[in-house]
Amino acid sequence: MIKITVEDREGAVRLLEITAATEQNLMETLKTFEYDMRATCGGMALCADCHCKIVNGGDNLPEPEEAELITLDTRPDANASSRLACQLKVNSQIDGLHIKLMGYQ
Ligand code: FES
Repeated sequence: MIKITVEDREGAVRLLEITAATEQNLMETLKTFEYDMRATCGGMALCADCHCKIVNGGDNLPEPEEAELITLDTRPDANASSRLACQLKVNSQIDGLHIKLMGYQ
């Protein structure tokens, strides 16, 4: 069981329980939980629609690839805690993660 806490764009906080690691990325998984994920680029790290900030629990996350960093650079509200949900795999590395979804630009 993978548990993550998600704060949506309206400030509502919800604990999600994901039964097992999937082949999906976190953006796709959030869609299955009915979160509004516009994801214009379809998960290619190009649009930043899935921009989120790590509130805590991000110690086990892999470092972002260059494409993710370049796209995050286009967001004026991005900082060192920013990630693209489409670039995070749903596995034990995200267990315990607390994220906040950021607004669209
Ligand atoms: S869905 Fe476009 S950057 Fe993640």
